[in-house]
Amino acid sequence: MVPKIFCFLQLFTLFTVTFASTEEATSLVKWKATFQNQNNSLLASWTLSVGACTDWYGVICFNGRINRLNITNAGVIGTLHDFPFSSLPFLEYVDLSMNQLSGIIPPKIGNLTNLVYLDLSSNQFSGKIPPQIGSLSKVENLFIINNHLNGFIPVEIGKMKSLEFLGLQRNNLSGPIPITLGDLGYLPERLCQGGKLENFTVASNKLTGSIPRNLSNCSSFKWVRFNNNSFTGNLSEAFGIYPKLLFINLSDNDFHGELSSKWGKCKNLTDFRIARNNISGSIPPEIGNVKGLLGLDLSSKHLIGQIPKEFGKLTSLVNLFLQNNRISGNIPEDFGSLTKLESLDLSDNRLNGSIPMCIVDFVHLFQLNLSNNKFGQKIPKEIGRITHLNVLDLSYNLLVGDIPPQLANLKVLVNLNLSHNGLSGRIPTELDTLTGLQDVILSYNELEGPIPNNKAFVNASLEGNKGLCGNVAGLHPCEMLSSVVKRHSMAKGRKLILITVLPVMGALVLLCVFIGVLIMCNKRRRVRDVERRDGDGWLSISMLDGKALYRDILNATEEFDAKFCIGKGGHGSVYKVNLPSLGNIAVKRLHSSFQNTHPKSFINEVRALTGIKHRNIVNLYGYCSKAQHSLLVYEYVERGSLSSILSNEVESKKLDWLKRVNIIKGVAFALSYMHQDCSPPIVHRDISSSNVLLDSEYEARVADFGLAKILNPDSSNCTTLAGTYGYVAPELAYTMKVTQMCDVYSFGVLSLEIVKGNHLGEYITVLANSSTIDPQQLSDLLDERLPYPEDRVKDVLVFIVNLAFSCLLKTPKSRPTMHFISQKLSSMDARPHIHQRNPHVRRAIYNP
Ligand SMILES: *[C@@H]1O[C@H](CO)[C@@H](O)[C@H](O)[C@H]1NC(C)=O
Ligand SMILES: *[C@@H]1O[C@H](CO)[C@@H](O)[C@H](O)[C@H]1NC(C)=O
Ligand SMILES: *[C@@H]1O[C@H](CO)[C@@H](O)[C@H](O)[C@H]1NC(C)=O
Ligand SMILES: *[C@@H]1O[C@H](CO)[C@@H](O)[C@H](O)[C@H]1NC(C)=O
Ligand SMILES: *[C@@H]1O[C@H](CO)[C@@H](O)[C@H](O)[C@H]1NC(C)=O
Ligand SMILES: *[C@@H]1O[C@H](CO)[C@@H](O)[C@H](O)[C@H]1NC(C)=O
Ligand SMILES: *[C@@H]1O[C@H](CO)[C@@H](O)[C@H](O)[C@H]1NC(C)=O
Ligand SMILES: *[C@@H]1O[C@H](CO)[C@@H](O)[C@H](O)[C@H]1NC(C)=O
Ligand SMILES: *[C@@H]1O[C@H](CO)[C@@H](O)[C@H](O)[C@H]1NC(C)=O
Ligand SMILES: *[C@@H]1O[C@H](CO)[C@@H](O)[C@H](O)[C@H]1NC(C)=O
Ligand SMILES: *[C@@H]1O[C@H](CO)[C@@H](O)[C@H](O)[C@H]1NC(C)=O
Ligand SMILES: *[C@@H]1O[C@H](CO)[C@@H](O)[C@H](O)[C@H]1NC(C)=O
Repeated sequence: MVPKIFCFLQLFTLFTVTFASTEEATSLVKWKATFQNQNNSLLASWTLSVGACTDWYGVICFNGRINRLNITNAGVIGTLHDFPFSSLPFLEYVDLSMNQLSGIIPPKIGNLTNLVYLDLSSNQFSGKIPPQIGSLSKVENLFIINNHLNGFIPVEIGKMKSLEFLGLQRNNLSGPIPITLGDLGYLPERLCQGGKLENFTVASNKLTGSIPRNLSNCSSFKWVRFNNNSFTGNLSEAFGIYPKLLFINLSDNDFHGELSSKWGKCKNLTDFRIARNNISGSIPPEIGNVKGLLGLDLSSKHLIGQIPKEFGKLTSLVNLFLQNNRISGNIPEDFGSLTKLESLDLSDNRLNGSIPMCIVDFVHLFQLNLSNNKFGQKIPKEIGRITHLNVLDLSYNLLVGDIPPQLANLKVLVNLNLSHNGLSGRIPTELDTLTGLQDVILSYNELEGPIPNNKAFVNASLEGNKGLCGNVAGLHPCEMLSSVVKRHSMAKGRKLILITVLPVMGALVLLCVFIGVLIMCNKRRRVRDVERRDGDGWLSISMLDGKALYRDILNATEEFDAKFCIGKGGHGSVYKVNLPSLGNIAVKRLHSSFQNTHPKSFINEVRALTGIKHRNIVNLYGYCSKAQHSLLVYEYVERGSLSSILSNEVESKKLDWLKRVNIIKGVAFALSYMHQDCSPPIVHRDISSSNVLLDSEYEARVADFGLAKILNPDSSNCTTLAGTYGYVAPELAYTMKVTQMCDVYSFGVLSLEIVKGNHLGEYITVLANSSTIDPQQLSDLLDERLPYPEDRVKDVLVFIVNLAFSCLLKTPKSRPTMHFISQKLSSMDARPHIHQRNPHVRRAIYNP
């Protein structure tokens, strides 16, 4: 008896279940019939011959009605067009994610009024989010991540009471977050009142506008992703205090304003990302209170000030990214407590001082990027203790001394970049043992000697060094070098002779110095005399008597009569003045609009500039000013500007190839001197053929050095006030950073202009992308007014053109430094029959 009853009961249950959901099952079978892949094996169970509640894949019933439909990742190819929205009133959970469902999300979705959970993510839905979705008033989790939805987020979403998770990221949505989520307060008001809105993510859309007040005030937030949109607004107003917040990503938006100290009150925060916004101001020290932080990304372009020493409290920190700001000062010693760090990127800032010893405590560090700062002194040998390091980038700093052999302890090192520093000596042979090394960049240092025997050095960037050798392309074999060494030892022999000559010369030098000092002292006294007159409206810096000079200039030019004017520029007009006391001088009268807003620093700058003496730089004698006129007094340079000579048929022909090569060299020497040998380096900012003058010997004299800066002290931008169209480096269109590399770019343009005889105009942008040329291709770039160059000169011109191309590279960092350029050029000799041509010149061609 017992087994029979059991049987009966089982049948009964089956019967009722099948009966209750027949209509629902039929409707789903109809939907399935519209799939493009009828052979779908997972959904093979979806037939009316078996019970939907018991035997169907992905279906779960409750009280005999279909309650859950979960066909995630079931390989369905189809649409929702025939989905039985009206026939499944008891559905609460729907997961259709990770299929190939396409087309729109039908408005009838609003019929599923009992839905609690809806996941349509990772399909190919397109079109707009239907406003009817707002009728799904019970939905707590709504995911439509990673589809092709576009248009605005419907305001009706704000009516969904209560929604706990809204995932719309990775779509093509646009427009602002609907005001219903904000001012009207539906969504956040209710959600936040219930204290339930924990996860909010609208990342990777094209959303604009500010974060609605109510939403940004949602103190229940735990996981929040606004990243990769176009949100705007003042950061300190847009966000509040979220005591429960664990994770927030605001990266890649257009927020502005400063980081507020409020973030320090989000005590539970473990991950804070706000990269690539328009954030200014300094880093609030209160961030140090968020002790549980694991990830912090503030790489935001405009941050200034120092790294707060309170960062030392962030002892859990694993990832710290502060790159691409204007942070200055030293790395605080307290940093040593960040012993859990795995990635540290402080690149592209203005940090200085030495690389702190405390980095040795970063035993887990995997990536270290300190490039593009002003770190000086030696690379600490302790760096060898960061044994997990994969990536080490210290390029573009002011590091000197040897490369520590302890680097060889970094057994898992893959990328090593120490380029653009002042490192000298030999590359330690210990690096032979770093078998994992792949990418080595040591270019533009002062390194010499053999390269390590390591396969990574075969393709390493090593150009721009003093004397590296080895059996790889672009370097001399090391035997060559040993012959050089021999020559050195021969030179030692000559030392003997020198030893006898030196004392005599020394005495002579001493005598000269003594006389020099006497003369200087004399002049100083005169200068002091001049400065005493500052009181009655005089301002003058020079070796000359300011008042007399001013009066003489006014007389000689008949109060700046136009007939004495020899040129007009952005800053003022230039007059040729003949004075009995000084002969010819050039006087630049600054525009009357010129306002000396920072008189003290102005005077200091001018004073510094008058101190600069270089064969290829026009001497600035001084400055004087009274009431209506501000005058800069320069040495007069006979032949005037290169641009006027090149545009004159007769004069340009006198400028033969040798003279042109020499002019290019001269400009390079001048720039290299100002960049390399002056401290702080002086960037010209306005190199053009109008600012290169030629003296009687056709020697180049660069004019107006430092002028752009002292006349526009508030502008760090060469494009606005300084800089001549056609010579300005492309990066200045989008960055405010004036670097020496702007001059390098302009130098490239100028060199090509000198070779071609006129400015290449738009063609420059084409050349900027070209690789090197060979002698056959040269003729297109030559001034047709001159005879075709003989071989020796042609080689030099090819070299110059290729060098100029490398100066035009779009990325400033890829351009060679002026120091490198001038060194290379000085080894070139186009003159016939004087020296044997250096057989290695061709190898030295800069190869970016
Ligand atoms: C299933 O059907 C689809 C569409 O009709 C077809 O592209 C696919 O090759 C079929 N797969 C198998 C295993 O038959
Ligand atoms: C759907 O099923 C997958 C695994 O088959 C599971 O991971 C997921 O949580 C389910 N979704 C729902 C809403 O139950
Ligand atoms: C189903 O949705 C459609 C479109 O939104 C609507 O017109 C209709 O009244 C709804 N039907 C039911 C039974 O709710
Ligand atoms: C995104 O939307 C724009 C129109 O707003 C459209 O032109 C574009 O094709 C869409 N992109 C994708 C991937 O759907
Ligand atoms: C939402 O905004 C409205 C109007 O601005 C305000 O009255 C309401 O208090 C806000 N709600 C919350 C939770 O901030
Ligand atoms: C919120 O997001 C986090 C991290 O992505 C996740 O672990 C958590 O389960 C989510 N919470 C809800 C309610 O979906
Ligand atoms: C940013 O969003 C776009 C779509 O708007 C997407 O294509 C891109 O991959 C996203 N980027 C990141 C880093 O998530
Ligand atoms: C933020 O919410 C609190 C209460 O939760 C409220 O008192 C305050 O006014 C709100 N601030 C804004 C700016 O909406
Ligand atoms: C933060 O957002 C940016 C931009 O979408 C993305 O590249 C980054 O991976 C995100 N970081 C985290 C930790 O989610
Ligand atoms: C912060 O995190 C701790 C530990 O997870 C938890 O106990 C505490 O409730 C959290 N605080 C808030 C305000 O959520
Ligand atoms: C950056 O923010 C400042 C205000 O802090 C604003 O003046 C400037 O226009 C913003 N720049 C961009 C590119 O949005
Ligand atoms: C941003 O808002 C704060 C607080 O209201 C204000 O002090 C600051 O001046 C604003 N910054 C900008 C750039 O508008």
